Amino acid sequence: MKTTITSLLALVFLTKGLLAQPKKQGFLYQDAGKPIEERISDLLGRMTLEEKVMQLNQYTLGRNDNANNMADPVNDIPAEIGSLIYFSSNPDLRNRVQHKAMEKSRLGIPILFGYDVIHGFRTIYPISLAQACSWNPELVRQATAVAAQESRMSGVDWTFSPMIDVARDGRWGRVAEGYGEDPYTNAVFAVASVKGYQGDNLASPTNVAACLKHYVGYGASEGGRDYVYTEISNQTLWDTYMLPYEEGVKAGAATLMSSFNDISGTPSSANEYLLRDILKKRWQHDGFVVSDWGAIVQLTAQGVAKDRKEATLKSFNAGVEMDMMNQCYDRHLADLVKEGKVKADLLDDAVKRVLRVKFRLGLFERPFTPVSTEKERFLLPKSLKIATRLAEESIVLLKNERKTLPLSAALKKIAVIGPMSNSKWNLLGSWRAQGNADDATTVYEGLKRELEGKTQVVQAPGCDFDGNDQSGFAEAVNMAAGADAIVVCLGEKSQWSGENASRSTIALPQLQEELLFALKKTGKPLILVLSSGRPLELNRLEPLCDAIVTMWQPGTPGGSPIAAVISGKVNPSGKLAMTFPYATGQIPIYYNHRQSARPHQGKYQDIQAKPLYDFGYGLSYTTFEYGDLKASARKVKSDGTLTLEVAVKNTGDADGLETVHWYLSDPVSSISRPLKALKYFQKQLVKKGETRIFSFQVNVKKDFGFVDGKGEKFIEAGDYEVMVKDKKIKIEVTP
Ligand code: GLC
Repeated sequence: MKTTITSLLALVFLTKGLLAQPKKQGFLYQDAGKPIEERISDLLGRMTLEEKVMQLNQYTLGRNDNANNMADPVNDIPAEIGSLIYFSSNPDLRNRVQHKAMEKSRLGIPILFGYDVIHGFRTIYPISLAQACSWNPELVRQATAVAAQESRMSGVDWTFSPMIDVARDGRWGRVAEGYGEDPYTNAVFAVASVKGYQGDNLASPTNVAACLKHYVGYGASEGGRDYVYTEISNQTLWDTYMLPYEEGVKAGAATLMSSFNDISGTPSSANEYLLRDILKKRWQHDGFVVSDWGAIVQLTAQGVAKDRKEATLKSFNAGVEMDMMNQCYDRHLADLVKEGKVKADLLDDAVKRVLRVKFRLGLFERPFTPVSTEKERFLLPKSLKIATRLAEESIVLLKNERKTLPLSAALKKIAVIGPMSNSKWNLLGSWRAQGNADDATTVYEGLKRELEGKTQVVQAPGCDFDGNDQSGFAEAVNMAAGADAIVVCLGEKSQWSGENASRSTIALPQLQEELLFALKKTGKPLILVLSSGRPLELNRLEPLCDAIVTMWQPGTPGGSPIAAVISGKVNPSGKLAMTFPYATGQIPIYYNHRQSARPHQGKYQDIQAKPLYDFGYGLSYTTFEYGDLKASARKVKSDGTLTLEVAVKNTGDADGLETVHWYLSDPVSSISRPLKALKYFQKQLVKKGETRIFSFQVNVKKDFGFVDGKGEKFIEAGDYEVMVKDKKIKIEVTP
């Protein structure tokens, strides 16, 4: 039924287009020498109501690779369609459809092609949660620039990325896609990603438009269940969820995506306060908002619209410019304008925003993607180098008793055991775009290559990722018993995290734990290597392991980075961007919480109160000694600045990258504030024996200030504390 209507619609446009084909030359909007705003106005003035509406719709082209999004594809794409989600790794199909738009439509408006390029297009780099653990935004900028280059050369002009949803519940599968539990961290990586994707010029043939998503508060999904209600007070909205979007908009993000979630009764995709009052008016965003797939029609499921037409009315008037596969705007928007329920100037503003992004991308001048070979587009040596470095710097060493790691060269044989030991597919993680598992190296292959000629490497799966088949245990245990050390590789399948991948527990399946228990009985040194899209519950495994290291989901580099770390070629420098709870029952648990009324009471009766590993935690093969914190003044005016410094000495016997996290605490304020909040971080190489100064140039109002429930920033006079690790100094702020 729905396909028939859409095909009829397409037929109408096609017929009108064919019959009324004016000369397409000489219009002002086609003159690249004219200012974009003049070109937009000229083009808008020539468009019919139907043509305007079609610019605000997005269908799909190619085989939809996101099984979570069910909807009949539109088979006969109208030449006037505004945008298409493009599911292909080469530009041929895209160019064919673009020719239809340029030559068969009345005005020749190019189609905008979008796609989910979340952590790489074909060169897949680590999942975003892992990237955050690298604390290297410059490297993330480089990686996203690679993704942009591969995407644009493959026919994608626009990525639905970065995902910057602050998330504190590891049961929610989408923690894999964002930058962890901290607002400032998500903001820094939002900016780095936007700069990487968009570069200095959107019209460059290797840049793409970015899309901040999912605006906003999606990470607060109750119980970690996807798509559900989110209870978010205005104060929490502003002090936890909005900063990454504000900074991403300031960085020039071309678009945003409105989220699925219902925010305390008003779903994001019908939330005028967020979409118009804040995004368009206060933040002056001049690009556009696309709905998430179906987020408009889902307003009927959420009970705020009785049918598609009312959903259309609510979303559009709230400020969602483009309809992603809802089949709402294409059916009802024109009627709502004719009925006066949608104002014509609001429609024009929406179309202007879409056209603005298209003009800035240079699509009117270069609507077609140049032909190139896969060799010219994908897996370039410099691209793989960036992905590998990012994977290396994302690895977090969680435990290393008696310097078990790096592996001693004296070891004659190691056994690499576990469901993750020789897996490729699962190393790419969720949202792998056009990533190809065959491009990846397994942990076993990586270690064999790294230890060639030094240590023999043998491998056995031991068991599958889940189930109860222990028939492989015996082979694995015997193999391990004959080795000098065991590298046990456990973790998650890539589809256990990402969208629609909520899990009731963040523990590994019991079968995997039982494999480790069985291996422990050999008495050999046990190194646990983890691969997952979320923090894991490790309290039963931690005591049995001599070393524990997480490689998250590293992407195309696969097992090579972890092999380099285990062998000692690379000194791990990653630090957690999301707390590892001691047990699932502690969730939500995160570092920047507010103080309890009775800090000494109210703990669980059955487990420890502290998480297993804290936000910011990560070991190195070397050791660092922190000097005392130094401040350029201990008293500063609220509109003043301050320089904070700490000397960090490498007291170990290996060079190491170290990240210093600067936290702020405001013990007494007019509203309660988090016990501590990350305000700045800096990563530097500190060679063995060397001392480096890490400094933080403080803008008191910005960095010590706070935001209220209206999003207004304020700073109050009083005593503040600056903290680095276990060191702190008091700073008095005066009016
Ligand atoms: C999905 C996701 C969103 C993605 C979109 C297009 O449902 O929520 O992140 O960009 O649909 O695939």
